[in-house]
Amino acid sequence: MIEDMLRTPAAVRDAERHTAHNYHPLPVVISSAEGAWVTDVDGRRYLDCLAGYSALNFGHRHPTLIAAAHAQLDRLTLTSRAFVHDQFADFCRELAALCGKDLVLPMNTGAEAVETGIKVARKWGYQVKGVPDGQATIVVADGNFHGRTTTIVSFSTDEDARADFGPYTPGFRIVPYGDLAALAEAVDEHTVAVLLEPIQGEQGVVVPPEGYLAGVRRLCDERSMLFIADEIQSGLGRTGATFACEQEGVVPDVYLLGKALGGGIVPVSAVAADAAVLGVLKPGQHGSTFGGNPLACAVATEVVRLLATGEFQRRSAELGERLHAGLRDLVGKGLVAVRGRGLWVGLDIDPALMSGREACERLMERGVLAKDTHGSTIRLAPPLVITEEEIDHAVAQLAAVLGG
Ligand SMILES: Cc1ncc(COP(=O)(O)O)c(C=O)c1O
Repeated sequence: MIEDMLRTPAAVRDAERHTAHNYHPLPVVISSAEGAWVTDVDGRRYLDCLAGYSALNFGHRHPTLIAAAHAQLDRLTLTSRAFVHDQFADFCRELAALCGKDLVLPMNTGAEAVETGIKVARKWGYQVKGVPDGQATIVVADGNFHGRTTTIVSFSTDEDARADFGPYTPGFRIVPYGDLAALAEAVDEHTVAVLLEPIQGEQGVVVPPEGYLAGVRRLCDERSMLFIADEIQSGLGRTGATFACEQEGVVPDVYLLGKALGGGIVPVSAVAADAAVLGVLKPGQHGSTFGGNPLACAVATEVVRLLATGEFQRRSAELGERLHAGLRDLVGKGLVAVRGRGLWVGLDIDPALMSGREACERLMERGVLAKDTHGSTIRLAPPLVITEEEIDHAVAQLAAVLGG
């Protein structure tokens, strides 16, 4: 039997045996990749339409990024921030310029960037805004996803993410996403920040109503609060712009960045803000052994340079239109709704037809990798190097899954 000769089933079993089961991956075991394509241990190729939740915006093993990593591996990999290294200044200067901000604080994972944003906002609240000690609040949105630390899950509204991890960190108020009136109602003189995803990725690529982000900006200005935009998934080209906030011409006070910043090679995250905000941190008050390490900086500097050309943002905007148009044709033919921006889409499958998980399994059998979320929703976030033909291919495979 051909099935018996495949390496995948045993490799999946092996991968499960000694791991905590905090993930439920599709049964595909990837061993190599290039651009928008991955290959499994049995030599089967798949079009990667998840791109590491946007961590692979530039595709797998982008030659410029791989070259930067190789060159850096041969020179210097880690110093800790106890010393300065020669890759640090360029990275911080160029990322700050891309963000239009004075300063950058590098960390590693997205969750660390969020934690950093929260700490900075609280300190800013006490030292600059004059909030009484211990009284600072931060307003967040329901349906949010900002990471997995104990503080971050404290303000999650997803029971799977939150239940049994208490006691929870106080100081957060949750309001409905997209509801400006509810947000205005929730803030008071102790509110130091509003923390939002400009588009909610994990929730199913939920785009807020027009005017919402601009309204949040206005409210933050009026009430002297920081607007912290979690652009960890939405930023760095994904939506057809450098930042999703640009869709409403909004500039937040604080950008939280991650995922694609590491070029799909190393974990790199960062907080970018002006000196009036990030300047509240003094030596010893925050840090990370690996944050801003030489390898991370060498790769991330090249990421910033790729973004500075504008090519990837353009590709995302143009190819995104093609992707959305193809998917809109499937509404009423197995799809209930399509939403998103650029090369980032949330699809609601008719739940009577199949679950999101089942759709992803069937897509996998047809050589397309995607990820379900919340029951009948699928997310597509292909690498921004994907071609028109590959987009058409992905849409055709989805049509076959829904029709078959
Ligand atoms: C918007 C957003 N913020 C934060 C995170 C957390 O990032 P990480 O998994 O690198 O900690 C994610 C991850 O999916 C995210 O989508």
